[in-house]
Amino acid sequence: MKVLVTGGAGYIGSHTSLCLLEAGHEVVVIDSLVNSQLESLHRVQQLSGRNIDFHRVDLLDAPAVEAVVAGAGLDAVIHFAGLKAVGESVEKPLMYYQNNIVGTLNLLHAMDREGVRTLVFSSSATVYGASEEVPLTEKAPLDATNPYGRTKEQIEDILSDLSSADSRWSIALLRYFNPVGAHESGLIGEDPRGVPNNLLPFVAQVAVGRREKVLVYGNDYPTPDGTGVRDYIHVMDLAAGHLAALDFLKSTAGTFRWNLGTGRGSSVLEVIQAFSQAAGCAIPFDFAARRPGDAALSYADPSSALADLGWSALRDLARMCQDHWRWQRDNPFGYGEPN
Ligand code: NAD
Ligand code: WQD
Repeated sequence: MKVLVTGGAGYIGSHTSLCLLEAGHEVVVIDSLVNSQLESLHRVQQLSGRNIDFHRVDLLDAPAVEAVVAGAGLDAVIHFAGLKAVGESVEKPLMYYQNNIVGTLNLLHAMDREGVRTLVFSSSATVYGASEEVPLTEKAPLDATNPYGRTKEQIEDILSDLSSADSRWSIALLRYFNPVGAHESGLIGEDPRGVPNNLLPFVAQVAVGRREKVLVYGNDYPTPDGTGVRDYIHVMDLAAGHLAALDFLKSTAGTFRWNLGTGRGSSVLEVIQAFSQAAGCAIPFDFAARRPGDAALSYADPSSALADLGWSALRDLARMCQDHWRWQRDNPFGYGEPN
């Protein structure tokens, strides 16, 4: 298949592009590089020995998107491109609605005009809001608690309306839990700009000496050790989930929702412990106040993805930390200066 990957230079997009190439697919990438560097795709090409047709295009530039899609002979699109920082979305909601929703609409118009109607969309467990009815099934009520999460919820509605109106569309809404880890080569991984918002990249930067200590947000949650519990999933397992969804969509029309998680929760202290073991050093931490908006517990029921796609996560927390550490150790400053 020939697959357009929007946001392909980013964290999950680069790992998925590698899996697509290794499975023999052709890959076209659109990315504005607003939160990534082209070096990620150079390394994907190096690892796969294959070329990527890269276009530095902003999805907000509708004619430019159209120019890439028109006549390209695409079979499907995986749509990762979007802004994803929860705190920033609270401060700049218009920027998030504009980028994530208008960018998606521009992409959908270009696809529809070209008759490309197979789409895998990056949704998020964030659509379940603060619901703690764990494990979370796809039937749990949606109640995103911040503008970023609401863009995901709204895009899910747009896509569902689209396939109700036109039965030629085949759409997968993949609700990721907490993606972590890196390709086992240590050549590609997550490269957050500025201070990481997420736990794993922060812990990794402490381990490599870029930051002094981890602040553990809350140790009085109703969880076994009092710290927040999440369903961390290896980015290569996540990437494999996209290929499984594409395969399913080849023969089935409609909109489908799947949780991509391991089904197992780990606490903040368990993550710090596992990372410390992987890196072979102590990870200093202090307890701090709870972070506003955080749920105590969130983990998936991933049984629908197993039943429908034959997909399940294979890598455990130790493996996630080992691979994440290899990437951080070999690339202490990620891909280096932004290009
Ligand atoms: P990322 O920031 O590394 O990748 C997103 C990519 O999209 C970046 O390369 C960025 O430059 C690009 N982009 C953003 N806006 C664009 C635009 N208007 N036009 C073109 N390119 C644009 O993020 P990621 O972690 O790889 O996440 C990929 C997707 O998965 C996002 O939609 C994100 O919301 C979703 N998601 C991520 C997580 C997570 O924790 N990483 C969890 C759930 C869902
Ligand atoms: C995990 C746990 C924190 C940082 C976020 C987004 C969500 C999705 C995934 C995109 C929590 C604790 C964290 C730190 C800590 N992204 N923590 N110290 O909040 O589950 O989900 O990323 O869709 O939308 O909200 O992930 O990695 O930020 O936090 O103690 O420095 O680690 O309180 O319990 P979260 P996270």
